Amino acid sequence: MTAHTLPRIFSGVQPTGNLHLGNYLGAIRNWVKLQHDHECLFCVVDLHAITVWQDPAELRRATREVAAAMVASGIDAEKHIIFHQSAVPAHAQLAWVFNCVARMGWLNRMTQFKEKAGKDREAASVGLYAYPNLMAADILAYKATRVPVGDDQKQHLELANDIAQKFNHDTGRAVFPMIEPIIMGPAARVMSLRDGTKKMSKSDPSDQSRINLTDDADAIALKVRRAKTDPEPLPSEEAGLEGRAEARNLVGIYAGLTDLHPAAVLTEHGNKPFSAFKAALTDLLVASLSPIASEMRRLLAEEGAVEAILRSGAERARALSAPVIAEVEDAVGFLRT
Ligand code: TYM
Repeated sequence: MTAHTLPRIFSGVQPTGNLHLGNYLGAIRNWVKLQHDHECLFCVVDLHAITVWQDPAELRRATREVAAAMVASGIDAEKHIIFHQSAVPAHAQLAWVFNCVARMGWLNRMTQFKEKAGKDREAASVGLYAYPNLMAADILAYKATRVPVGDDQKQHLELANDIAQKFNHDTGRAVFPMIEPIIMGPAARVMSLRDGTKKMSKSDPSDQSRINLTDDADAIALKVRRAKTDPEPLPSEEAGLEGRAEARNLVGIYAGLTDLHPAAVLTEHGNKPFSAFKAALTDLLVASLSPIASEMRRLLAEEGAVEAILRSGAERARALSAPVIAEVEDAVGFLRT
């Protein structure tokens, strides 16, 4: 098969705060596997980041860091495209068109907006509200059909399909394909280490709630040791995880890092006290994450290395999006001179 016949993937990560184990297991680690039989675009979504205030210097730092994390995790930046969203105008262009396609009622249902806007919705930016329209534009500017994400992005992808369908219907042209979410494995929803009912997140005020990709061995050991558990030993079968959110989460993390089924993890570690399982999990986390962290440090220290990757990615992404934007302009009725 030649490259252009492979299905196309698009996915993104926001450059806000620290990348954590949820981003790695829910998204980036799966991208590394999928790159072998897909043509991929992986985007650092800085336009999405500014839907809430970002310090400019910190945004630049985080943009470089996320790009470095993608490469350090094993994405081939020559075969595939790693770029930052603001460098390709097609995202903002198509997002505007989609702002005019998506309905207020659709956006009002988005649970992530409700969570992020909190009680004072009137004070949220218009960008935060329209966030899913920009996400749809990210994917559809390349007519990508597969989108590997964590479980929390599912609703946004359903909305993207609604937008694509309405655009095609309104213009009477089959411009956009349908998108298939790829939500993989036992760690599609990694939970906070402090509360098994809350998602592990960059915005949690407690750093103890998450494992950052750049945490050193001591930090990882401490966080795992302090991770919330219950007094029972680990069950030996998966059914025994019912109602035990924290135990399920730690087993899911172990399974995600080893590509084992949670049942197989329990066959090996069931009936042991949590202290023994936590020691094994710490070793596994350190062995998995420390090579990534050290490669990130190396890349970030090399003057211009990350910039060169992003520049080349943006150039290729612009070339891929140009004909799609032309098709959209034509379908909408914009005069092309
Ligand atoms: P972001 O930056 O919040 O997260 C990046 C990816 O990590 C996944 N993820 C998790 N997976 C499992 N457990 C968790 N606790 C966890 N936390 C985060 C997310 O599901 C995501 O796959 N809106 C997106 C970025 C985006 C995007 C796109 C994604 C913008 N445009 C187009 C796909 C396609 C976001 O905020 O991801």
